Amino acid sequence: MKDNIPSPKGKLGVLVVGMNGAVATTFIAGLLAIKKGYGKPFGSLTQMGTIRLGKRSEMKFPKIKEFVPLAGVEDIVIGGWDIFDQNIYDGALESKVLDPKDLDPIQDELKELHPMPAVFDNYYVKRLNGTYVKEGATKMELAEQLRADIREFKSKSGVDRLVMIWCGSTEIFMGHSETHDSIDQFERGLHENDINITPSMIYTYAALMEGLPYANGAPNLTVDIPALVDLSKAKVLPIAGKDFKTGQTLIKTVLAPMLKARMLGLQGWFSTNILGNRDGEVLDDPYSFKTKEESKLSVLEHILQPELYPELYKDFYHKVRINYYPPRGYSKEGWDNIDIFGWLGYQMQIKIDFLCRDSILAAPIVLDLVLFLDLAKRAGMKGIQEWLSFYFKSPMHAPEVYPEHDLFIQLTKLKNTLRHMMGEKLITHLGIEYYEE
Ligand SMILES: NC(=O)c1ccc[n+]([C@@H]2O[C@H](COP(=O)([O-])OP(=O)(O)OC[C@H]3O[C@@H](n4cnc5c(N)ncnc54)[C@H](O)[C@@H]3O)[C@@H](O)[C@H]2O)c1
Repeated sequence: MKDNIPSPKGKLGVLVVGMNGAVATTFIAGLLAIKKGYGKPFGSLTQMGTIRLGKRSEMKFPKIKEFVPLAGVEDIVIGGWDIFDQNIYDGALESKVLDPKDLDPIQDELKELHPMPAVFDNYYVKRLNGTYVKEGATKMELAEQLRADIREFKSKSGVDRLVMIWCGSTEIFMGHSETHDSIDQFERGLHENDINITPSMIYTYAALMEGLPYANGAPNLTVDIPALVDLSKAKVLPIAGKDFKTGQTLIKTVLAPMLKARMLGLQGWFSTNILGNRDGEVLDDPYSFKTKEESKLSVLEHILQPELYPELYKDFYHKVRINYYPPRGYSKEGWDNIDIFGWLGYQMQIKIDFLCRDSILAAPIVLDLVLFLDLAKRAGMKGIQEWLSFYFKSPMHAPEVYPEHDLFIQLTKLKNTLRHMMGEKLITHLGIEYYEE
């Protein structure tokens, strides 16, 4: 594959849906600060990470960004949409993630950035009322308007390539429907204003029709329906989702594999969160919370495999709560109480209190995803990119396999995919060769 990956010439346009939100503004402001040398891209594997090549004794650890032909941070140009008409500086101030003094040196650039009017319907996000919203008689017309936005952005900004990423609010829970089954049914649904087609699906359709790779940072279905997966394959475009893996679930996908690795049993895992930002307010609505809950709950079942280890994991109780608590504002707190048992059934407890900053954890994920998706597109990869599971709470996967949630298996998969792309030997960690005569 190595010789076939064109190098990343020119600029890379990143179109962010939900451009004025906490994650998006933290990503955008961070990107500008990093470009100007005011900050470091901590948390970003593409910027900080290395990759081992060859045998351990060879000591070859190039930086990932030097090993694979990734676009440079300095070549990224930002655009996007939001349902509120404000520039990104005001959006960043309102999100209250970054300190205003850190926004000062980049405020002129942030003020110049302005979203395009959104495709939005309050039916799908009950707690928000968009005021900067497109109008159209059908969902297909709205998709056409988004497609025109993409083309206009491309010609005005002069970018060479584009990627779209959903950092918009979590939509209400949506089950499977026939409209989602094939491209034809989906397109008919767009013409007929089918209720099963959400705004996030309209963005995805527009992105894929315009030739853009697409990532979904929220737990809503969005691109995770057969019609849009098929469309991504037909257009030879990589897609990835769902739901950025940041705070509590990040910890869960590290700790649960440890329990299973050491054959320690689990009686119960109670996770609760308080947060007071807009995301918390949206998730306070039971219909949006249901989408998030599904995404957060599935992780333990898949990692612990109770069907293989009934004595250890058959009846564990798993509860996840998200509580909207305005006084806490943006500073989230996530508690976990984990009841485990070991030798002879003796009980133990683990307590975690993670005072995390969600968007500080999410922003580098946005950067990595857009750079890797741009790379994947140049490499001719299409459809679901399971090697990007590393970044998601609820990773998309082929129908015949279960999702891989263990963070370190995900990391191995990601790095082996990069080695595979570049024609390098995969690393199995067997290591027996060091001990053979
Ligand atoms: N660490 C994290 O913060 C994290 C982790 C996992 C997933 N997520 C998900 O990422 C998303 C963004 O999180 P956030 O904290 O930035 O939330 P936020 O509420 O601050 O931002 C969401 C933004 O999306 C905009 N929006 C909503 N619907 C839109 C539409 N149809 N078109 C365009 N814009 C739209 C809103 O106006 C808002 O500016 C949420 O779905 C959240 O659940 C966040």
